[in-house]
Amino acid sequence: MKRIAELRDLSDDHHTALVLAQRCREASASGAAELWQRVREAFRLELEPHFQIEDRHLLPALEAIGESDRARRIRDDHAALREIAANDAPAVGEISRFGDLLASHVRFEEREVFERTQHRLPRAALDAIAAACRAMRTPAPSREAPPAR
Ligand SMILES: [Fe+2]
Ligand SMILES: [Fe+2]
Repeated sequence: MKRIAELRDLSDDHHTALVLAQRCREASASGAAELWQRVREAFRLELEPHFQIEDRHLLPALEAIGESDRARRIRDDHAALREIAANDAPAVGEISRFGDLLASHVRFEEREVFERTQHRLPRAALDAIAAACRAMRTPAPSREAPPAR
């Protein structure tokens, strides 16, 4: 089923997350430290803001349409992923576990949540998700001082 417009930015993020997950699953002892620094940076800049949009707008909307079990799984996955991401030097096995969890989380959201609920989610929630995604993608205004006259 085609993704509705309001959820398309989140689905685009999911593609990026799957690439990251695959890198984690292929982590080797020699490159683990460097890989993990890149993963944490991507988590901070992309995944965490994405999770926040879902936490704030998607989960209450799922609960409102009687999909509390799916909302709970998403909430639990986010907590588990955040917990691993908070570790600054995890073992290779833990990095690989992060990759597995991230990949299965994304697939769950795409196949079990978006696919099954996208036409039932309340209009206000969809609008809020789309607006939050747009805001996330808009660069922050420059803090540089205006040029001197
Ligand atoms: Fe999520
Ligand atoms: Fe997501």
